[in-house]
Amino acid sequence: MSSRVAVALVSFMLLALASCAREEGAAEIEARLRAARADSVALAEAQYDASAFDTLSWQNQEARLERGRVVWNHSCARCHGYDGEGNGELAQQMGVEVPSFLRAEWPLAGDVPAMRHAIYVGHESVMPNWGLQGLSYRDMDAAAAHIDQLTRSDQQ
Ligand code: HEC
Repeated sequence: MSSRVAVALVSFMLLALASCAREEGAAEIEARLRAARADSVALAEAQYDASAFDTLSWQNQEARLERGRVVWNHSCARCHGYDGEGNGELAQQMGVEVPSFLRAEWPLAGDVPAMRHAIYVGHESVMPNWGLQGLSYRDMDAAAAHIDQLTRSDQQ
């Protein structure tokens, strides 16, 4: 075997080994990330205080929805899409499935308290836990009101 062929063979084997190690590493990192996110969902769950929403007051529903649109466009639409269909740019880039809020059987439809809870605690896969990310109860309430409006076709 010529030394050039030997060098090529060894390089190929090293490359193959490196890419195996990389794949294993990526899966391991993903598993660890998911476990860490599950921990922070549990932490958010423990800190969540549903009664904090009872003390909020809005000048009127329009003010609440206006704030909701701002929060939505700034923090949510990149994954959920502007109209809540789940086709946001970032979701597409990340290759993640974001469920559409507009589908007929969406379990949280019409349930603003459940939406606020989901926004606060997030999900171990992708959805950030906004309660731990510093989004205020007021902004979570506004975002939930906005989603509620998006999903009520009679108001569009
Ligand atoms: C990085 C992408 C991303 C961003 C940003 C994001 N979400 Fe999500 N969201 C998701 C995904 C994906 C899910 C589905 C659960 C999962 O797989 O993590 C989800 C789930 C939800 C749910 C629960 C849906 C259900 O059926 O249980 C609500 C409500 C929600 N998001 C609201 C919001 C709001 C409000 C914001 C902005 C403050 C936001 N999301 C920002 C990706 C995102």
